[in-house]
Amino acid sequence: MKVGFVGWRGMVGSVLMGRMVDENDFADIDPVFFTTSQAGKAAPNFGKDAGVLLDGNDVAELAKMDVVLTCQGGDYTKAVYPKLRESGWNGYWIDAASALRMEDDAVIVLDPVNRDVIDASLKNGVKTFAGGNCTVSLMLLALGGLFEQDLVEWASPHTYQAASGAGAKNMKELIAQMGAIHASVADQLDPAAAILEVDKKVSETLRSDALPQAEFGAALAGSLIPWIDVPMPSGQTKEEWKAQVEANKILGQSENPVPVDGLCVRIGAMRCHSQAITLKLKKDLPISEIEAILAAHNQWVKVIPNDREASVKALSPAAVNGSLDIPVGRIRKLAMGPEYISAFTVGDQLLWGAAEPLRRMLNIIKA
Ligand code: HSE
Repeated sequence: MKVGFVGWRGMVGSVLMGRMVDENDFADIDPVFFTTSQAGKAAPNFGKDAGVLLDGNDVAELAKMDVVLTCQGGDYTKAVYPKLRESGWNGYWIDAASALRMEDDAVIVLDPVNRDVIDASLKNGVKTFAGGNCTVSLMLLALGGLFEQDLVEWASPHTYQAASGAGAKNMKELIAQMGAIHASVADQLDPAAAILEVDKKVSETLRSDALPQAEFGAALAGSLIPWIDVPMPSGQTKEEWKAQVEANKILGQSENPVPVDGLCVRIGAMRCHSQAITLKLKKDLPISEIEAILAAHNQWVKVIPNDREASVKALSPAAVNGSLDIPVGRIRKLAMGPEYISAFTVGDQLLWGAAEPLRRMLNIIKA
């Protein structure tokens, strides 16, 4: 099977290549590497000689592939995908970008949650597959058990999203902001220093044009940004709008959607998105039963007991960065009534949030 990779050098692409090497995914495919800037140079070797890099805009070369897997971004998809399909190509297109997600002939892939939807679509001849929005995929992996058993009347996720979701440059800018903040008060951090003086300087730094903010356009370190992506007519941001439409599409219930809506906030984490979710369940279930339903859904979700030590240790970006685990905790009844519960979950935005569903889809096609 000839698999053409586009955007394999970027951040999500690099995470994908790393996972594919770890899982020996290259063993039974013929990888072909495309580029939009370096055609003719040597292709990377992930344990297999792949010759030279081909031009990612060359539709005739792409059309020789059985599968094209792209992490190149939405602009590339919008420019190349229609031309490739119009040329008569009937191969599988697997895409990290959001451009095709809501198309009727595309399926959003998250196989631990919607393997049934994926299998049915393959039977029906669907050839276009997109990874979901990171927060949506991470929420469904954490709460999949409750959705699967149709126990959710509505869900309101409020997010704490990492810099990685905005891109590699943004991750670097977050660290540069941290450095600038520290540098502005580095000589005043001894125990005897007056904290209000230190705080005043930090606030000045946060509000100063000298703070690196070319990417975020605002202070993120020592602060937060309560807006992700472009506005929608509803007053939602596009990131917030995606929650309901994508979650229900993944679950195969777009005709009869569960309301999913909340605020999306960028915080100073590196690559893990966290979410505090309020759920209204369709019935009053004991917490122990809710925990058992969540834990049984897939092999990555880990239910964390609602105590201080376990929550602080396991439910943080610091604990989860670089891991496929999806811890979910802080599960308790809320004061609004017995059907209202809280949950807090953390997941790696680059792994389950981006790369992992794509490599798994490739393996499903291969099988
Ligand atoms: N849109 C997400 C974010 C990442 O900005 O965090 C991509 O799914």
